[in-house]
Amino acid sequence: MCGIAAIASHKSVAKQLYQSLLNLEYRGYDSCGMALMDQNKLALRKNIGNVGEVNDKEHFEELKGNMGIAHTRWATHGGVTSENSHPHFSNDNSFIIVHNGIFSNYQKVQKELLNKGFTFQSQTDTEVFANLLQDEYQTTLDIETAFCQAIERIEGSYAIAMITLHQPDTVFAVKKDSPLVIGINDGANYISSDMNAFISETRDTVIINDMEYVMLTKDDFTVKRLADKQSVSKQIIHVQWDKQTAQRGGFSHYMLKEIFDQPQTVRQALHIPKEEIDTIADKFLTRKQSFCVGVGTTYYVAMIGTYLFSKYAGLYVPNVSADEFPAIIPVSDDQHVLFFSQSGETYDTRMAIRAAKSKGAATSAIVNVVGSSISQEVDNCIFQGSGPEICVVSTKAALSQIIILWQIVLNVGLKNGSLTQEQVDLYRENIFEFSRTIETVLNEESGNIRNLAKETSHIKNWLFMGKSIYYPVALESALKMKEVTYLHAEGLPSGFLKHGTLAMVDENMYCLFFIPTKETKDLYESTMMAIEEVKARKGKVIGFCTDDDTEAMNLLDHYLVIPDKHPELNFLVEMVMAQLLSYYCALDLGLNIDKPRNLAKSVTVG
Ligand code: F6R
Repeated sequence: MCGIAAIASHKSVAKQLYQSLLNLEYRGYDSCGMALMDQNKLALRKNIGNVGEVNDKEHFEELKGNMGIAHTRWATHGGVTSENSHPHFSNDNSFIIVHNGIFSNYQKVQKELLNKGFTFQSQTDTEVFANLLQDEYQTTLDIETAFCQAIERIEGSYAIAMITLHQPDTVFAVKKDSPLVIGINDGANYISSDMNAFISETRDTVIINDMEYVMLTKDDFTVKRLADKQSVSKQIIHVQWDKQTAQRGGFSHYMLKEIFDQPQTVRQALHIPKEEIDTIADKFLTRKQSFCVGVGTTYYVAMIGTYLFSKYAGLYVPNVSADEFPAIIPVSDDQHVLFFSQSGETYDTRMAIRAAKSKGAATSAIVNVVGSSISQEVDNCIFQGSGPEICVVSTKAALSQIIILWQIVLNVGLKNGSLTQEQVDLYRENIFEFSRTIETVLNEESGNIRNLAKETSHIKNWLFMGKSIYYPVALESALKMKEVTYLHAEGLPSGFLKHGTLAMVDENMYCLFFIPTKETKDLYESTMMAIEEVKARKGKVIGFCTDDDTEAMNLLDHYLVIPDKHPELNFLVEMVMAQLLSYYCALDLGLNIDKPRNLAKSVTVG
């Protein structure tokens, strides 16, 4: 996740663009830059650091021109260097672009361009698109056509803004799976990743949909569909947010914003280049034994990995909590360990990496922060590109890691013969559709979850239960509840109940069940049996179940429904619902949700 902004105006834009960068900084802050068009010349300034630091070095406000683009970066491809920061020029310096997202086929396109004699100054996927524009323009000699044809050649997620010497009065922009909005004002128009960039100038905004492109001048804008190049009429929305609310995308807390960011981060995670997935997948195939390791929420991601590897790749990949890893795992040079870390700085995970490396094991990681210690310590790293996670508790970063992990598992399953290509394609399609499902569920079920939270936030003791892959979801959801409400929530496998915990159950005990779809038959029945066990002791039972599950609905004291879409992805829909339940309980209790007591975002101590 990065932030992009563009302005076309009757007046000089440098100052406003700098303000846009400051307003977008929460979307990424490892480097930034800006390019302005002045008298048919493009001037570029960019560097590493946060927006203020870069401005101290580059003095953005000295740039001249009435039109420009700007970018604040959260690195996904290529390290944090000045060359990799945006904007990026085409080879002939006639096109300059900013991009938020991932071009998943950039290596292939880059090879084609290298064969045609193009050169590259950065390690980014973005520079490829700048040169694609030049390549297309050489044959079409028409900017709009070149822009659309270049888009046809790339895959992945993107919100792009571009200016060019060949049509110096127009900003071009396009989007797929990354956000893009327009701001409308008297004498100036804006394009940005979100309206926060221009909130101090205008609150009149237009939302751009996937596969629509924009041509924007200082006085006007046109939105067209990529499919048929026809104009689309757009509604102008007037937003009432103040600046702080805008920064959180209109949400009252970062936790809520980050929960609602998840459909986008899932789609972004699906666009991680195949080569990166392949490299780590191959380690699972060539090493005798692999482990999945994380701590806290990322430990639960690792646990989910064990279930996914077993189901889709027929492999036993044990999970270990990073803090226990050095004590119990006799790692050796024929082994491989995959680590998960949002921050890339967690002490326990770093110690586990050290332990694995000291025994010669291969190490890989899925990390959100480029340049972080963990990303540098492991042999191979995938940067998840989820954007900064500002709330102390992890939501979107964890879900994104699960989606990337799932792709690794599918790749291993395909290569070891556990899955066919058709199955892999279908699972990927289902994961993509899941991103739409959670969008719907978040929009439609929020009210119900909020009501349930109001009724239950006084409860002091919870048991969260699930079986099979719903078990790590129960653990993760209990951790979320503990972190933001400070209430006691214990996660356990539902099959475990009768082996001891049942003794605690009476009419004061509330149990939250993560119920699978009925299609899973045995799993469903054994979860239902655990619910009966609680009911028989007069315990209160709340559950997430599918909208056709009347059996569960009749049994539960309270239920929240989810659509019965893809049984294999239900556990993640329920995980998202549980994040919301924790959020609304904490809201009801009036707690400091984004900064819970005693916790820190990056745990760098042992
Ligand atoms: C829970 C949470 C923590 C982190 C853990 C690992 O919401 O945020 O449990 O998951 O401290 O942190 P990272 O992922 O930064 O290594």
